[in-house]
Amino acid sequence: MSQTNQTLGEFIIENQTSFKYSSGELSRLINSIRLAAKVVNHEVNKAGLVDIIGNAGDTNIQGEDQQKLDVYANDKFIQTMTNRNIVCGIASEEEDDFITINSQDENHQNKYVVLIDPLDGSSNIDVNVSVGTIFSVYRRVTPVGTPVQIEDFLQKGVNQVAAGYIIYGTSTMLVYTTGDGVNGFTLNPAIGSYYLSHPNMQFPEDGRIYSVNEGNYTHFPRGIKDYIKYCQKEEGDRPYTSRYIGSLVSDFHRNMIKGGIYMYPKSSKSSNGKLRLLYECNPMAFLAEQANGKASDGYMRIMEIEPTELHQRVPFICGSKNMVDKAEEFMKNAES
Ligand code: AHG
Ligand code: MN
Ligand code: MN
Repeated sequence: MSQTNQTLGEFIIENQTSFKYSSGELSRLINSIRLAAKVVNHEVNKAGLVDIIGNAGDTNIQGEDQQKLDVYANDKFIQTMTNRNIVCGIASEEEDDFITINSQDENHQNKYVVLIDPLDGSSNIDVNVSVGTIFSVYRRVTPVGTPVQIEDFLQKGVNQVAAGYIIYGTSTMLVYTTGDGVNGFTLNPAIGSYYLSHPNMQFPEDGRIYSVNEGNYTHFPRGIKDYIKYCQKEEGDRPYTSRYIGSLVSDFHRNMIKGGIYMYPKSSKSSNGKLRLLYECNPMAFLAEQANGKASDGYMRIMEIEPTELHQRVPFICGSKNMVDKAEEFMKNAES
């Protein structure tokens, strides 16, 4: 990947006018996400220290340091977007219901809603493995100037105007799309700026990595079992390599760079898999498609699924196009 000196701030300004609904509002929104991500990044990076040097009790005097990080991340993203008064509503994995933002000008003029998984892969925090944040942005469908309604959030993924993730990894990156390709920015922690390090990211059409929690193998549908066996078969460029971090963001990020497929299928234990359509699968699907990849529930395009509830789960197969096509083929053949 070529390295540039362009910062995220400069990139946003330069590309603002090319965005079809350009009013600066979306740019301000991405800006506030980048700011909140820096704060969360700082907290994630010292996760181990809190227990070592923090107060021994459950709560310290501020009651903040010992909050679970996913609650902390949730609060930071919501606070940042609320304080800056740039969205009209937020839905989060950590909130039962959506949040209505009361615009300070009393007219609720903002037109975007954000759906967010504030901390993805949170079971990896305690063991110092990469975690992430996923976000998805829509234009509201109800009239501007009125409180947001559930239908503003229950939109098909094809309606997304922006989506992205932050990966708190060996370096921290913000990767996002506004429907014109995918760009990745790496945080320089010494300076506090993100630099365009991965312009125009693309999934290789073919890949050699498959990522799935194989502990659930016996519970998977026939088609997925058959596809896994295909990945393991000694033939041509196979067997493929198995890599599963257990943080969707990290598994996706690696597969996009190296070529691979991520699967969280339905199983006999969970009929719709585990991942949530609105703030995990749809944003990742939008990024995947913008990066020449593909995302499917095994039968249909993720972004065409009609959402029925905020925390709805769907089976998720995503990655290099030819690999996802192949997995779908196995799903179809298993039915016939
Ligand atoms: P979250 O931490 O937001 O609840 O998401 C965790 C998700 C996803 O990131 C990961 O790929 C998957 O759960 C792992 O699930 P299993 O442990 O069942 O494999
Ligand atoms: Mn998640
Ligand atoms: Mn989460």
